[in-house]
Amino acid sequence: MAVFAANWKMNVSPEEVEGLVKPIVDFANGRSDTVILCPPSIYLERLNTLLSGSTLHFGAQNCYFETSGAFTGEISPVMLKALGATYVILGHSERRQIFGETDALIAKKVTAALDNGLKPIICVGETLEQREAGQAFSVVESQISVAVAGNETALKSSGFMIAYEPVWAIGTGKVASPEQAQEVHAGITAQCQALFGDVYVPLLYGGSVKPGNASELLAQADIDGFLVGGASLSADDFNSIIAA
Ligand code: PGA
Repeated sequence: MAVFAANWKMNVSPEEVEGLVKPIVDFANGRSDTVILCPPSIYLERLNTLLSGSTLHFGAQNCYFETSGAFTGEISPVMLKALGATYVILGHSERRQIFGETDALIAKKVTAALDNGLKPIICVGETLEQREAGQAFSVVESQISVAVAGNETALKSSGFMIAYEPVWAIGTGKVASPEQAQEVHAGITAQCQALFGDVYVPLLYGGSVKPGNASELLAQADIDGFLVGGASLSADDFNSIIAA
């Protein structure tokens, strides 16, 4: 059993939501895998209806760390929870790079998500420059340490996940080789054992996952599933990845 999370990013029109979701529910409902759809937050309410009675879950792509107040344009974790969301993606590299989110801000969001009963999917990953400088794992290790600091106990019982997404592989068509991904995942497994003991933390790989490379990646010892961007916008492709 594996985890398959779809990150639609800022894609899919209101007219397309149902046509994308229904074939995924038809295929994935009742499987032992954990399937999570993360649409733009404006569609969460519709996902709540479309997924009701199925074994699929849904979540948001981001949230703020305050629960309410004068924070124009932000979305509260309380609101996500009230709309039925189970998960929230935090620290995606696009949030870090385009919107300037820091490790410290992401840590606050992790706290807020946990306080409000959401399961964080914490994203980490190195840039090409960092990888070429031999810093891939040290970058990831430090992103994880800061994101979880002070919340180790709450995280243990939360059902949270970590997604390793090398920045150079996201949306570029350049997938990490199974060996490259496994090497970092093995390091994260060891770090999680030190931080969380025996608690199982699903480790997802993300970055140009496609039907054609999914099974080889999933065969790696420390890869428990995927966070899928581009290929999650096609029900056929996403279902083929689940079938892997
Ligand atoms: P991609 O995106 O599958 O399009 O590379 C993955 C992600 O950013 O989560």
